[in-house]
Amino acid sequence: MALQLGDTAPNFKADTTEGPIDLYEYMGDGWAVLFSHPKDFTPVCTTELGEVARLKKEFDRRGVKVLGLSVDAVKDHTAWAGDIKETQGYALNFPLIGDPDRKISDLYGMIHPNANDTLTVRSVFVIGPDKKVKLMITYPASTGRNFEEILRVIDSLQLTAKHSVATPVNWKSGEDCIIVPSVSDEDAKKKFPGGWKALKPYLRIVPQPRG
Ligand code: BEZ
Repeated sequence: MALQLGDTAPNFKADTTEGPIDLYEYMGDGWAVLFSHPKDFTPVCTTELGEVARLKKEFDRRGVKVLGLSVDAVKDHTAWAGDIKETQGYALNFPLIGDPDRKISDLYGMIHPNANDTLTVRSVFVIGPDKKVKLMITYPASTGRNFEEILRVIDSLQLTAKHSVATPVNWKSGEDCIIVPSVSDEDAKKKFPGGWKALKPYLRIVPQPRG
């Protein structure tokens, strides 16, 4: 069955541009983003990988390890890396998995045969420190992803994990949050001593918790 939110992200060992990796060891106690791209030496993928390299420090700041993948071999990733640096201005600074036997692509359901039966689609998995899948998104080959959005979701996931808040539509870090419905008003008084604004009994707005 396909992976779903809340499932344990399966561990794997893989060859990468930075040597062999074991996913769980690579993550340690932190978070991970595992994302696939369809193919090396293709235009949209080139722009995406340059962008992830540009944003690497933002992932680091959030304690998130980044890991890319395609069904190309590591030697192809390495050959392509020069083009990414030349055209996007950022050199690859995170591991890219070579998955020519599709072991990991199949494990994570990254090949959607009715879209393309040989190449991975643009899958993204955010995996929490508990090794559970926290977010999955899937884009087609023709649409480059917005990795700022992935950072935004990670900010939301990390706030939820720490502070019993959810985040409203179009939320960005620093903006007001919502007290999750599972927290009673009585418990909310202890968790949010500064109070909240209740637009409805179920819609309770608090400033973003800090720390
Ligand atoms: C691209 O990265 O541009 C691409 C890759 C595979 C299929 C279509 C586009």
